[in-house]
Amino acid sequence: MSGTRRAASAHGGGALTGDVRVPGDKSISHRALMMATLAVGRSRIDGLLTAEDVMATAAAMRAMGATIAMDGEQVVVDGVGLGALAEPETVIDFGNAGTGTRLTMGIVAGHPIAATFVGDASLSRRPMGRVANPLREMGALVVARSGDRLPLSIRGPQTPAPIEYRLPVASAQVKSAILFAGLNAPGETTVIEPVPTRDHTERMLAAFGAKVTRTPSPDGLRITVTGRQPMTPCDVTVPADPSSAAFPIVAGLIVPGSELLVRDVMLNPSRTGLITTLIEMGGELTVENERDAGGETIADIRVVASRLKGVTVPADRAPSMIDEYPVLAVAAAFAEGTTRMEGLEELRVKESDRLAAVAAGLAANGVPHATGEDWLEVTGRAARIGGGTVVTHLDHRIAMSFLVMGLAADTPVTVDDASVMETSFPGFVELMRRIGGTIEVEA
Ligand code: S3P
Repeated sequence: MSGTRRAASAHGGGALTGDVRVPGDKSISHRALMMATLAVGRSRIDGLLTAEDVMATAAAMRAMGATIAMDGEQVVVDGVGLGALAEPETVIDFGNAGTGTRLTMGIVAGHPIAATFVGDASLSRRPMGRVANPLREMGALVVARSGDRLPLSIRGPQTPAPIEYRLPVASAQVKSAILFAGLNAPGETTVIEPVPTRDHTERMLAAFGAKVTRTPSPDGLRITVTGRQPMTPCDVTVPADPSSAAFPIVAGLIVPGSELLVRDVMLNPSRTGLITTLIEMGGELTVENERDAGGETIADIRVVASRLKGVTVPADRAPSMIDEYPVLAVAAAFAEGTTRMEGLEELRVKESDRLAAVAAGLAANGVPHATGEDWLEVTGRAARIGGGTVVTHLDHRIAMSFLVMGLAADTPVTVDDASVMETSFPGFVELMRRIGGTIEVEA
């Protein structure tokens, strides 16, 4: 879906200064469109992320009957209601969007309709069995390419079976897909989460009037939805995405002399692992003006360039910073000593094999590092950082992380494809330029 491939290079230079707000949270944006579709009546969404991934979800929801329109700055969704979704008339193209695909699979599995999903080369490599298998237990018929990869077709049963399912991987996407299917199953559907993952689905389901409970148990957190309850429209305010804020935050820490204010960042505890880690590394980050916005805590984060030091990031922190390891690896490249990151097995199945892509990017730019199946060690302050070209493998976060590296490097860092950043962070280059970064994009 992204436009023509364009390389981009970031150059080291002066300090970064100013005030920024990054776009809306991607996880919340997908969910807001989906839940508004499942409610009967009109929901309004403020601050929706208008990136390619979320636009793919909007198209999917329209294909199932929702009316989605702009009213000034707001997105207005007229939902069709649980149980009343239309069958899409044609194939749904999710582009690069794993979250959109997996959560929509859950929605379709809860309805007696069929849908076929396709995506770009990155999405077509990603495993869908983790979602397809529990949905099959609920009665859905899922047919996919080998390895349960896209293209994939799914047909929901007349009456989905409520199930109890223990998550074999710490994945909010799998949890959410099952809960979405459970919304239209008669009875209680329970997901047991041994390791907590982001809880946006549960929070937002409650806001849309669904019956959802979270109960700790010796096995882990039990999240239960009671199906076939009507959902009511809700107005949603989407806070700034902490996974996008990570880029100016790390840039501000590693470019000498910088001072930034990054505004309105969501600080949901299931998303703050990077902030915790950067503070442990000695990063001068101050959380200011903490407040509540639409059921989430948000705050402004003041960033002052800091002398970072290497730390060990424990495996149990991974779910709360799963998308932030590439940019943490960049921070680690400028920290004194070695940073060790553990529990990274899920990085292998993101938009790219992120562990391999990060390692290759570090190698191309002279940063000493070592990797294993599920860990990464980065040793900072190499004599000369930069000068390399990084292959992005259709992965927006690889592109943005290495452009951040370039802003603090001795020689420019090039990424082979900047167009991929449109999937989650439209305006990244302009925002970084506005605070003083030098990034050149090929014409
Ligand atoms: C997401 C969950 C995470 C994350 C992804 C967004 C979500 O994936 O990496 O970018 O919105 O639920 P997993 O659930 O596969 O860990």
